[in-house]
Amino acid sequence: MNPPGNAPILRLEGITKRYNIGTDVETEVLHGITLALQQAEFVALKGPSGSGKSTLLNIMGLLEPPTAGQLEIAGQPAQSLDDAGLTALRGATIGFVFQFHHLLPAFTALENVLLPFIIRHGTATPEAEALARELLHRVGLSGAEYKRPGELSGGMQQRVAIARALSQKPRLILADEPTGNLDTVSADEVFELLRDFNRDHGSACLIVTHDPRLALRCDRVIELVDGRVVSR
Ligand SMILES: Nc1ncnc2c1ncn2[C@@H]1O[C@H](COP(=O)(O)OP(=O)(O)O)[C@@H](O)[C@H]1O
Ligand SMILES: [Mg+2]
Repeated sequence: MNPPGNAPILRLEGITKRYNIGTDVETEVLHGITLALQQAEFVALKGPSGSGKSTLLNIMGLLEPPTAGQLEIAGQPAQSLDDAGLTALRGATIGFVFQFHHLLPAFTALENVLLPFIIRHGTATPEAEALARELLHRVGLSGAEYKRPGELSGGMQQRVAIARALSQKPRLILADEPTGNLDTVSADEVFELLRDFNRDHGSACLIVTHDPRLALRCDRVIELVDGRVVSR
C-alpha cells in the first residue's frame, strides 16, 4: 500500500469538527484545517491547551470522523472506506503514542508490545516475538520483557508504549504529548527514540509537544490556535 510517487503520507483539506451537533451547546473546535505531512517528515504540533490538537490527531488517526473536509492517508481518501477499511488502514499505516500510555496492566511488557500484532493476525508468531524483543532492546528495556507496567517507572512504561507503536513499522507515527508527564531526561530519551525510528525507517512523525527545546529539533512546527493553523 505504498502511496504513489511522492504523495504525502497525510493530507487534510478543510477539516472541521463540531461537537454536540444540533444541541444548544454545539461547538466547532476545528475550523477548516488544511495541511500535509510528507513521507519521512518529523513535525511538531504545538498550541495552547484546548486549541484542538488532540481532536486533530484523533481525526488524522482515523479514530474519529471529521464533521466535514477531506482526509487522505498514504494516498487513500478516508471517506472512501467503511469501518473495516478504516481499521485496516489504521492498523497497517499508523502507530499511536499517547500521553498516558494505555498499557494493559495485567500483561507483561513483551505481551503489550505484541498486542497490535495479535489483534491484526490473531496470534503471535516467533518472528513477531523476535521483533518485539528487538524493539524492547532498542528502547533500552532488555531484561524487562516479563515485567508488568506496575513494576516499571513512568519513563519505562512510555518506552514500552513506543515499542508497541513501532511494532507494526508504521509509516506514520502520531504522538500526542508523549513526553508530557515525564522528567526532562526521560522526555529527551523518548523523543530521541522517535527521532531514531524516523531516521532509520523513514516513518513520518507528528508529535504534539509544549516543549520548545523539542520543537526546535523537529523539521517543522505547525501551530494551532483556537482550531486554526496559524503557522506551518
Ligand atoms: N467529545 C467532546 N465533546 C465536546 N467537546 C469536546 C470533546 N472533545 C474535545 N472537546 C473540546 O474541543 C476543544 C479542543 O480540545 P482538544 O482537542 O482536547 O485540545 P488540545 O488537545 O489542544 O488541548 C476543547 O474546547 C474541548 O473542550
Ligand atoms: Mg490534547
